[in-house]
Amino acid sequence: MPIIIKTAQEIEAMRLACRLAAEVLDHVAPFVRAGVTTGELDRVCHDYMVGVQGTVPAPLNYAPPGYRPYPRSICTSVNHQVCHGIPGERVLKNGDILNIDITVIKDGFHGDTSRMFMVGEPSVAARRLCQVTFECMWAGIDQVRPGATLGDIGHSVQRHAEASGFSVVREFCGHGIGRSFHEEPQVLHYGRPGTGERLEPGMIFTVEPMINAGRREVRELGDGWTIVTRDHSLSAQWEHTVLVTASGHEVLSMSAGAPARPEQLPAVA
Ligand code: MF3
Ligand code: CO
Ligand code: CO
Repeated sequence: MPIIIKTAQEIEAMRLACRLAAEVLDHVAPFVRAGVTTGELDRVCHDYMVGVQGTVPAPLNYAPPGYRPYPRSICTSVNHQVCHGIPGERVLKNGDILNIDITVIKDGFHGDTSRMFMVGEPSVAARRLCQVTFECMWAGIDQVRPGATLGDIGHSVQRHAEASGFSVVREFCGHGIGRSFHEEPQVLHYGRPGTGERLEPGMIFTVEPMINAGRREVRELGDGWTIVTRDHSLSAQWEHTVLVTASGHEVLSMSAGAPARPEQLPAVA
C-alpha cells in the first residue's frame, strides 16, 4: 500500500478531525486529579465525543490483526505504562504521570493526538521525562518538509532522547492516518538522516515518540493491549498529527488548550 497523498478536500476534513481530537484533551484536562479513576476519564471523553462533538471514538472495538477488540474509547497509560493502557478502576494519585491518547473519527476521517498529564506534583525526574519527550516530538515535527526523509524525523527524536539519557521505544511508531486509523508510512522515532521515504506535500502522519527513563525494552500485559517498560522505569509519550505542506508542515492537532511548541529546541545535525 503506497502512502496516500491527501486532496485539498481530505485535508480540510483532517483539519477538523484533528482539532476535535485535541479538544477532547482540552475537555478532559480539569478532570485529571488525584482520586479520579482512569475509567471515569474514559467516560468523560466518551460522552464529550459522542454527545457534544458528534465524533466516533476510534479505539472502541478497534481490532487490528492479532489483537482482541479494544474495550474503551481512549487510552490512559500511567507511569511505567508506555501506551495502550486500558481505562478502568485504577485511581490516580499524587505524583502520577499519564498519557491520554485520543483518536476521533469525524466525517470518516481520523484525528489522533496525545498529551502527558501530571497529577499533583510528580518527581523532578518524572517532570523532566515529560518535558524532554515533548521536545522530542517537536524535534521530529521540525524536520517535516518536502524533500526531508522519515529517517530525518527519527534521528532528530532519537538524538534528543538519548542525549538526555533516555531511551526510545522501538516496537511502536507514528503512522500515516486519514480514512484509516493506521496507514503507511510507519514513522519510526529513531533512525539515520537521509534514509527512508521522502516526504511530499499532502502526506499526513503522526509523530508520537514513546520515551523511557530507563531501558528501551517493553512488554505486553495479559490484557493483550497495555504496554509497559520491562524495567518498570517511567515512560512518556506525546503525539500530534502533521500535514506536509509545500513550504514545510502544519500541525493539525492543535487546539486552544494544546501546549505551545517549545521556544528552545535542541539543534540537530
Ligand atoms: N492512538 C494510538 C496511536 O497513536 C492507537 C491506539 S489503538 C487502541 O496510534 F486501540 F489502543 F486504541
Ligand atoms: Co497515533
Ligand atoms: Co494516538
